[in-house]
Amino acid sequence: MSKAIDLLLDVRDWIDDRLPIMRAWDTHMGKYYAPKNFNFWYFFGVLSLVVLVNQLLTGVWLTMMYEPSAERAFASVEYIMRDVDYGWLIRYMHSTGASAFFAVVYLHMFRGILYGSYKKPRELVWVFGMLIYVALMAEGFLGYVLPWGQMSYWGAQVIVSLFGAIPIIGEDLVQWIRGDYLISGITLNRFFALHVVAVPIVLLGLVVLHLLALHEVGSNNPDGIEIKENKDENGIPKDGVPFHPYYTVHDLVGVSVFLFVFCSIIFFAPEMGGYFIEHANFEEANSLKTPEHIAPVWYYTPYYAMLRAVTIPFFGLDAKFWGFVVMAGAVAILFVLPWLDRSPVKSWRYKGRLTKAAIFIFVATFLTLGYLGAIPASGTFLGVDRAKMAAILTIVYFAFFLLMPIYTKIEKTHAVPERVTGL
Ligand code: HEM
Repeated sequence: MSKAIDLLLDVRDWIDDRLPIMRAWDTHMGKYYAPKNFNFWYFFGVLSLVVLVNQLLTGVWLTMMYEPSAERAFASVEYIMRDVDYGWLIRYMHSTGASAFFAVVYLHMFRGILYGSYKKPRELVWVFGMLIYVALMAEGFLGYVLPWGQMSYWGAQVIVSLFGAIPIIGEDLVQWIRGDYLISGITLNRFFALHVVAVPIVLLGLVVLHLLALHEVGSNNPDGIEIKENKDENGIPKDGVPFHPYYTVHDLVGVSVFLFVFCSIIFFAPEMGGYFIEHANFEEANSLKTPEHIAPVWYYTPYYAMLRAVTIPFFGLDAKFWGFVVMAGAVAILFVLPWLDRSPVKSWRYKGRLTKAAIFIFVATFLTLGYLGAIPASGTFLGVDRAKMAAILTIVYFAFFLLMPIYTKIEKTHAVPERVTGL
């Protein structure tokens, strides 16, 4: 037994002399000191990784049985669901996994907003995170087209045709994206290539950069205190613990709870009543039949509501173009968040009342826009005209960011403690 262990250690040392795996392990796990006071919100980073792995594995398996052609795509998904052993499970792990991905990523981003994790010195961590978010949105959109159901087809039609609103090059651009005069099998084929090869590679690369950038500066925490500024005589942060074994074991608890929830949804409500896979997508794509109500999946609906909120043309350009600009701007503005927040403190715990109120209003706005984006644009909601409400909430959404340099600067902040709290 001990001989076998010696042999294994020799192999490890042999590799380590050529590729420093032990140094990498120490840098990122064994000697990576993370703040002691991580709370519930800090589970969502590791959960994003878990869902990413789930998507990659189930995606590879689906690709073995899926056929990316207009003639066979819908039928091949039905084949996976009905005839392939556990095909239904693999498909639902992937389709529900997409929603889980956005759920954990939204909570992960919100944690960043609560604790000011985007602020100096973690601006790049945030920017890489935002690039991940954009890649994820592209990945989700491309993937949703693949089952070639009615909503796949008409969703793609709505989104791709948005590019047509760009002056001068619009129409040519749309044709170039589609590869055809309408959304067709050719479009499906290229979306398949992008969904299974190109975007996942970009996504993986960005996740590596995200984590390298984070480990360079170290993690923030709910108090927004830099633990590196308070070290003991051995140079170890007094408020830090080695990531392994402390947080590897701690994260296992979060992962287990997440898997309970995730499995329950897969087994009992995989389509979530039409919110994860819309009812219209169980009908094959038909270019001659427009569904009564076209709406994207829940994770895009806040942006969709903003797109629809613009109904008036400006400067001779139609409303669709400006809707597109507003929608793109709503995502783009998140990139510059690190430079909009002028507060001397990071965490909302020590920020003033204005920031706290702004965050509450922002959350309510984002959720309401999400709801408005999921229901038809005309009619009323809580007695208010939906179109008007969407327009006002879009302004509130942008105000949260654009006024941030002012309210974070003028408000009175609280004293930040020297050591982390809440242990
Ligand atoms: C595939 C998607 C993603 C993965 C796998 C991922 C993974 C992680 C992990 C493992 C951590 C360290 C643990 C933690 O602090 O929770 C982290 C930290 C962080 N992530 Fe992400 N992330 C993703 C997307 C994003 C996005 C979309 C953003 C924001 C735009 C973001 C912003 C951050 C920030 C600011 C931190 C540092 C948090 C702190 O130290 O308080 N991440 N990420």
